[in-house]
Amino acid sequence: MGRIISFIQKLLSFFPFFNPIKTCSSPQSEKDSSFRFHQNVDTTCIDILEETMQNPAAWVLNMENLEERQLARAPERWIRHYCSSHRMLLVGEGDFSFSASLARAFGSATNMVATSLNTTEFLFSNYKKAMENMNELKTRGSVVLHGIDATEMANHCYLGAIKFDRIIYNFPHAGFRSDEPVKSHKRRNRSLILLFFKNAKEMVKDNGEIHVTHKSNRFFLDWNLQGLAAAVGLRLIQELPFKLSDFPGYRTKYGFGGDKNFNCHPSKTYKFGLF
Ligand SMILES: C[S@@+](CC[C@H](N)C(=O)[O-])C[C@H]1O[C@@H](n2cnc3c(N)ncnc32)[C@H](O)[C@@H]1O
Repeated sequence: MGRIISFIQKLLSFFPFFNPIKTCSSPQSEKDSSFRFHQNVDTTCIDILEETMQNPAAWVLNMENLEERQLARAPERWIRHYCSSHRMLLVGEGDFSFSASLARAFGSATNMVATSLNTTEFLFSNYKKAMENMNELKTRGSVVLHGIDATEMANHCYLGAIKFDRIIYNFPHAGFRSDEPVKSHKRRNRSLILLFFKNAKEMVKDNGEIHVTHKSNRFFLDWNLQGLAAAVGLRLIQELPFKLSDFPGYRTKYGFGGDKNFNCHPSKTYKFGLF
């Protein structure tokens, strides 16, 4: 049976675009399959990978024994409920100021993967500090990725291979459409969050946590985060008031462009887990 499967795999490898089997065995094949995966999302993703992940396979392995190495080398550093020994995935970043704030607090950011759905072109033309924040992250050792869609990230060739201690999405929002009825706006946003939870659940460690920071006024409470999490089998561990000043340098950005900071008061951080 094993020989038959191996024969079919070999046969399929001659037709890479029809190959349903994700191959991550070597850096080159990872690059190829990642490119295929992302080519209809954001082709700049592969440029960033080349820039920051010269050897992605080694990087995944590196992440694997992160805790032991970090503890052996340096004492843990904390900022609020985040620790330098947590393997962290940040999703839906705006100008990357939240990730950069954590990175500065940790000193080293080798434990972090900071991601955005947007292209570098969008970020540079909209957010004055995006470039500076991304450079700070890369200098401190974080991987920075673009074109990462929270609703399908578990299928990503590199990210899907890693289990994270913390997966964080601050102020998830699917964008505004000026003449959209309230019901449809709510449906789109709830769908974004539901699919994010579904993907994050597959990527978090058994004892890990998924954090969503969300406005806590009536309009946003109506999205019912807790119900969405429960629908995919996640349970609420804790909800805490969110204070922007806990994260120096963090600027909350709208997703549709412009460099204005939105008012995030009142907000809460909701922590979800598997059990
Ligand atoms: C209100 S903004 C918050 C940005 C940032 N997290 C912050 O706190 O400043 C919402 C963000 O969600 C991102 N977003 C929307 N749909 C997404 C998706 N499917 N996958 C990943 N990010 C998404 C947008 O690009 C935008 O940056």
